[in-house]
Amino acid sequence: MTKYIIYLFIVLCFLILEINAQGTYRAAVLEYATKDEVPLSLTRILKNVENYVYYMETAADKNVQIIVFPEYGLTGWENINYNTIDELSTEVPDPVLEISPCRTPGGYSKHLIDLSCAADVNKIYTVVNLIEKQHDNNSKQKLYHNTNVVFNDKGAVIARHRKINLYNEGVFTPGDQLVTFKTNFGVTFGMFICADLIFKKPAIDILANSTITDIVFSTAWFSQLPFYGALSIQHGYAKSNRVNLIAAGINDPSKKNGGSGIYLHDGRIAQTYIAGIRGTKILIQDVPKVASVIPLDTCQDGNVALERGIAIPGLPGGQLPDISTFVTSQEDLINYTFKSLNLDRNEISETICSGRSNFCCSFEITVARNGSAPLNYVYKLLAYYGVSVISTNTTVGLRNCALVACLNDTNASCGGRHKEGPHGIIFESISVKGNFNPNTTHAQPATITHKLVPITDYTFCEKKVNGTIEIEMKTSSKQNALLTFGIYGRVFTNDGKPVGPINSASSFKKNIYLTIIVSVLIFLLQD
Ligand SMILES: *[C@@H]1O[C@H](CO)[C@@H](O)[C@H](O)[C@H]1NC(C)=O
Ligand SMILES: *[C@@H]1O[C@H](CO)[C@@H](O)[C@H](O)[C@H]1NC(C)=O
Ligand SMILES: *[C@@H]1O[C@H](CO)[C@@H](O)[C@H](O)[C@H]1NC(C)=O
Ligand SMILES: *[C@@H]1O[C@H](CO)[C@@H](O)[C@H](O)[C@H]1NC(C)=O
Ligand SMILES: *[C@@H]1O[C@H](CO)[C@@H](O)[C@H](O)[C@H]1NC(C)=O
Ligand SMILES: *[C@@H]1O[C@H](CO)[C@@H](O)[C@H](O)[C@H]1NC(C)=O
Ligand SMILES: *[C@@H]1O[C@H](CO)[C@@H](O)[C@H](O)[C@H]1NC(C)=O
Ligand SMILES: *[C@@H]1O[C@H](CO)[C@@H](O)[C@H](O)[C@H]1NC(C)=O
Ligand SMILES: *[C@@H]1O[C@H](CO)[C@@H](O)[C@H](O)[C@H]1NC(C)=O
Repeated sequence: MTKYIIYLFIVLCFLILEINAQGTYRAAVLEYATKDEVPLSLTRILKNVENYVYYMETAADKNVQIIVFPEYGLTGWENINYNTIDELSTEVPDPVLEISPCRTPGGYSKHLIDLSCAADVNKIYTVVNLIEKQHDNNSKQKLYHNTNVVFNDKGAVIARHRKINLYNEGVFTPGDQLVTFKTNFGVTFGMFICADLIFKKPAIDILANSTITDIVFSTAWFSQLPFYGALSIQHGYAKSNRVNLIAAGINDPSKKNGGSGIYLHDGRIAQTYIAGIRGTKILIQDVPKVASVIPLDTCQDGNVALERGIAIPGLPGGQLPDISTFVTSQEDLINYTFKSLNLDRNEISETICSGRSNFCCSFEITVARNGSAPLNYVYKLLAYYGVSVISTNTTVGLRNCALVACLNDTNASCGGRHKEGPHGIIFESISVKGNFNPNTTHAQPATITHKLVPITDYTFCEKKVNGTIEIEMKTSSKQNALLTFGIYGRVFTNDGKPVGPINSASSFKKNIYLTIIVSVLIFLLQD
């Protein structure tokens, strides 16, 4: 009898394990410092591929099912020009054919073959960014793309995303396809690269396909404050779109590059990494599969203990290397509307509008001094409805609201970082509120501390109000190290327009017409 009970118990245990296994998949991202001792050449790529293969083995040993590598990890992003690009490139088979470059000879570069073989041997889905060469049969030209390639666990190429939104990468031809892929562990991914994340195509359009619950993302991000911190933008995307995001960043803190993470669809952060000294780091996490998408009108609270229901087998985190040496740049906020926070008041309630527009941000803040030491940062509230430059030839439409830290009283110092984080101030609570047109705009949270990590203890509430979306972000714990807390709104319909603040033309025009009509009436009445 007891034999049967023990038997039953064992079966039950396996069943529970099995159910758990179906509820998650195991992902790895590599924050990678490219080996650049070797001059830029195929040799450098092969040196980096050796390292990649080592990390694929490491991940496979820990039963990782998919590993994501960063943008430009094989080459670095410097010195890629018309002279160097052909040697560095490889053809990539059409994913429809599901060809394994390892098993099928086809004139592919050795690095593509080696990666395919390693995915096959280690039975691991592998996402690698590389330079793709494409023979265009119509123009008889060679085209080069900044491409993410996905190998399945048998080494076959099953997806190929050509970066759509190039960032000062004149030697590349942009792609124009939305790319998704299915896996044998039951998750369908969308995929894009770096600056793609802040553009409607692909970052928002890809989610129209409701089978896409998870995104893989390779990046060589330049952190710029207040709104473009690498981890801040990644977390904001995952939280506002309710997707799991598996993000791998290239590491070179002295050049503003770094920041990788695994973010969950309910706003939680499984793990992030960013550091002030150069180095490579693998992050491994069990990612809960998205069973049902959280509907709009519900507030997302990222402040849920991660342990609940999820085992985290990640490598020990340890002490992060000093973050103050991570170089960030500052956005030019000259066209933003600012208002300084009067920190002598405990309860602050302010509404500020961008320029002469009717886009306004409302703030409710409770703040306290911690001790009597002088403060090392000034805090300001800002609002912006307008267009900004994002790279040499690209402008983007924005609608932003935020509380930001500044080095001193000048507006131009906002988004700057002292070597030390803020001290002497405690934000008991912060609420930021703004209205966004859902037909033209995607709004996401932007939060970052002096350690360059986003915070999760706040709610992000989206409420439909007369055809617009009212967003309110509200902290749920005290904050003492914040540099940015606000909403980053992308108005896609204003992309490519001339730079500057947008005035509410309608009310401005209305006033002009009214003035003219009244003048004419007065003129006529005088007669
Ligand atoms: C382009 O030409 C190459 C070589 O002639 C051929 O292998 C390939 O299939 C052609 N591709 C397309 C899309 O027609
Ligand atoms: C910007 O546009 C100009 C004119 O079209 C072009 O010559 C230049 O290469 C572009 N710059 C970049 C960085 O793409
Ligand atoms: C959605 O993505 C899946 C998985 O890649 C694909 O099979 C399907 O065709 C896509 N649906 C649409 C409407 O694009
Ligand atoms: C900052 O900008 C606001 C307008 O947005 C302006 O009123 C204020 O004078 C500026 N502050 C400083 C110190 O220049
Ligand atoms: C207040 O300042 C002290 C000393 O700098 C610090 O240890 C403490 O954590 C601060 N309190 C809060 C709530 O930030
Ligand atoms: C404010 O900070 C900036 C950046 O550190 C500095 O260049 C500027 O001189 C400072 N201005 C004042 C008035 O302290
Ligand atoms: C929505 O519009 C109606 C009618 O125009 C108005 O009465 C109401 O106050 C609006 N609601 C909000 C929350 O603005
Ligand atoms: C967005 O589009 C919907 C449907 O066309 C419309 O009902 C709504 O008023 C629009 N919202 C705004 C702010 O234009
Ligand atoms: C600010 O706006 C003006 C137009 O009003 C524009 O010429 C300028 O380039 C803008 N500056 C920035 C940094 O956006």
